[in-house]
Amino acid sequence: MSDIKVGITDRDGNHHLVDAPTDMNMNLMELVRTYELAPEGTIGVCGGMAMCASCQCYIESNHNLGNRSEEEEAMLAEAFNVEDNSRLGCQIYITSQLNGLEIKLAPED
Ligand code: FES
Repeated sequence: MSDIKVGITDRDGNHHLVDAPTDMNMNLMELVRTYELAPEGTIGVCGGMAMCASCQCYIESNHNLGNRSEEEEAMLAEAFNVEDNSRLGCQIYITSQLNGLEIKLAPED
């Protein structure tokens, strides 16, 4: 059993507690898409290359995700609605350390 639980608040404010696999090299953007928690075309637009910010989310729990990469930092510098706890979901891979993570999807630009 290698699933963890991740809480995701969608753009309508609805909370979803979902199972997330740790053994599929999956990132948070792909997780949101898997559960169809954001309409097609509004998340993961660049395919996870840190080039669109459509996967921006706010980290609402105290998990240590490590620092933003240079590419992530650069993209967020150009994005809208960026907060201190903003991250690009496509740059965060699901690992067992993230069990209980809570994220909220940023509004569409
Ligand atoms: S999917 Fe484009 S930046 Fe994450």
